[in-house]
Amino acid sequence: MPYGRITGWAVDLPEKVLTNADLASMVDTSDEWITERSGISSRHVDGTVTEMSTVAGRAALAMAGVSPNQVDLLLLATTTSDQMIPASSSVVQDNLGLSCGAMDLNAACSGFVYGLVTAMQFVEGGMERVLLIGSDALSRFTNWEDRTTCVLFGDGAGAVVIERNGSQPSLLGWDLMSDGSAADLLYCEHDDKIVMHGQEVFRKAVLAMEKAATTAMERAGTSIDDIALVVPHQANIRIIDTALKRLGIPREKAALVLQRTGNTSAASIPLALVDALDAGRVAPGDLLLLVGFGAGMTSAAAVLRWNPPEN
Ligand code: UT7
Repeated sequence: MPYGRITGWAVDLPEKVLTNADLASMVDTSDEWITERSGISSRHVDGTVTEMSTVAGRAALAMAGVSPNQVDLLLLATTTSDQMIPASSSVVQDNLGLSCGAMDLNAACSGFVYGLVTAMQFVEGGMERVLLIGSDALSRFTNWEDRTTCVLFGDGAGAVVIERNGSQPSLLGWDLMSDGSAADLLYCEHDDKIVMHGQEVFRKAVLAMEKAATTAMERAGTSIDDIALVVPHQANIRIIDTALKRLGIPREKAALVLQRTGNTSAASIPLALVDALDAGRVAPGDLLLLVGFGAGMTSAAAVLRWNPPEN
């Protein structure tokens, strides 16, 4: 059984919800503008990476039936660690009672897919169990006076347990990419707030998603017709729609939660994945395409076969 499989999953969202109407009372915007231009209606705010990761991580372990002392590695994909030092993963490791290595992984909104690929390499290299969490608290780094960014972001966490108990590979193909020449399109200096050049990010995001998805599918030896579910980064419904159109994928095949979560960076793909899993949209043997992009600019895609449990 040398291959990694996802055996448990869970999410966490902070209690506080900010609606488009709330934002319209804070900056010069409207529900109509935000909904039309982004597809977002509400988002959760005021979370912390360590709290959300702890809640999601604990629930994912419980679902998998894995006890803390059985976890060999904690990977926490985040770009908004609660502190610069130490890594939030160390705090989460202690909160969960894990006795293993722990590290943060920062690939911005592509972080969960980077983490998934990394986790699978560890598992296929011999580790028994990896806890992978994607978690971001963007609300802390949002400029609440900047209407071009504050309407987009939210907080959340999603966790998966990956165990070495599959007789067939789950990760069939993947692509990880970074284009640092576009670093100044989306950034946040120390002790400051997020700055974004939205239109340019939009344009690059569509192309990056198409390229990453196409490369991952080629490497997996699959075509778009084989994909049962696409789990895109939840940044903007127009970005998702444009990328899906270029790839020839109908929107019905996409997992979407951004209407109620906004853009939660590294949490966005696991939030959408868990939503689809919990809704019964994934059957054993299905092929999933996970595809993200983000600051860096990074991009990442993975083709995952949803392997059933083995006895
Ligand atoms: O995880 C990756 C992170 N980021 C992204 O994926 C974001 C990528 N970019 C986008 O999603 C879009 O570019 C935005 C949603 C940020 C903006 O949408 P857009 O259709 O590109 O709008 P725009 O920047 O072209 O702005 C159009 C107008 C401008 O007014 P004028 O110059 O035409 O008078 C903006 O000032 O809309 C104005 N505007 C707003 N109006 C009401 C910008 N933000 C708002 C707002 N409410 N919140």
